[in-house]
Amino acid sequence: MNVDGKKYRTIWLAEDGGSVEIIDQTRFPHTFETIRLHTMEDAAHAIRFMQVRGAPLIGATAAYGVALAMRTDASDDNLHAACSSLLETRPTAVNLQWALDKARRTLVRLAPEIREEAAFKLANDICDEDIAINMAIGMHGMELIAAISRLKRAGEPVNILTHCNAGWLATVDWGTATAPIYMSHDGGIPVHVWVDETRPRNQGAFLTAWELGQHGVPHTVIVDNAGGHLMQHGEVDIVITGTDRTTATGDVCNKIGTYLKALAAKDNSVPFYVALPSPTIDFSLSDGIRQIPIEERGGEEVSRITGRTSAGEIETVDIVADGSPVGNPAFDVTPARLVTGLITERGVLEANRKAIADAFPERVRAS
Ligand code: MRU
Repeated sequence: MNVDGKKYRTIWLAEDGGSVEIIDQTRFPHTFETIRLHTMEDAAHAIRFMQVRGAPLIGATAAYGVALAMRTDASDDNLHAACSSLLETRPTAVNLQWALDKARRTLVRLAPEIREEAAFKLANDICDEDIAINMAIGMHGMELIAAISRLKRAGEPVNILTHCNAGWLATVDWGTATAPIYMSHDGGIPVHVWVDETRPRNQGAFLTAWELGQHGVPHTVIVDNAGGHLMQHGEVDIVITGTDRTTATGDVCNKIGTYLKALAAKDNSVPFYVALPSPTIDFSLSDGIRQIPIEERGGEEVSRITGRTSAGEIETVDIVADGSPVGNPAFDVTPARLVTGLITERGVLEANRKAIADAFPERVRAS
């Protein structure tokens, strides 16, 4: 996507061909800064501390992390150690495991002398594939938005609610939930996006709002609890979220609060769609609530908030009463029964085992 007229992906091979550049997402929305990853440890640090985040981008960064490890030492031992270290960085997004399995399977068969080159190629391929997947999701999702638009008066926007950031910053480019939005907007379909702020880390307010603003997409940031009220008053035509892991049966794990949006959508007959790239499907799981590991993050994300003062200083302040304990589960699971459809690169599917297996038979066979 374009930032101030320059085209960016969220991660790319640096000009030296042996290091990787990322956009530091901890600095948004006030500062746009890129940083260089030189080692596997740099890549692991970037994932763990959320300089990169979002399921597809976590997977792509892990693949580059393996390549950086192979540059230092391409032995079997280091390959396995790098995959283990990277896998420990964050537990919920299955794209991490998917990318590392792919890297390990590919590289272990090769002689150590050619592993570095093969690992960088694999990481580049994962990035290109992510973009192709998101563009296909965009085309399929745009048809849903266009169908709603046709029922509206001319010029009246389709109101889309989204949660967290499943935008281009969460992927290599385009985003998953945002790809249909960008394509609709670019194709002349009037859209307006309700952006959940997404406490505690504010990915909606800090990242999604910034992205949409850069692209000129009309949007409004709302507090996380406003969605139900807006749905009751007919102000939301469709919900589109991303996902960090979806089971073979269609249970969707995504940023904390997604489940409550799905419940409100069901109660108000608002269609609830999930943009789902196939690397985010975990074919080994059938019960999202019981089987998907939910990341518990530090309490300081809840008890403190960071922002820019009117003097332009970045400041972090405490917002919880001294001594009160805080909890911070980072994701929740929306059962398949609340999901209207899954927007995948192979079309819009029902959220059930048969529909998912029929669309991705080769992934079922491999699992
Ligand atoms: O904790 P984060 O910021 O990594 O969580 C991101 C999300 O929950 C996204 O909605 C999800 O990864 C889908 S990204 C296309």
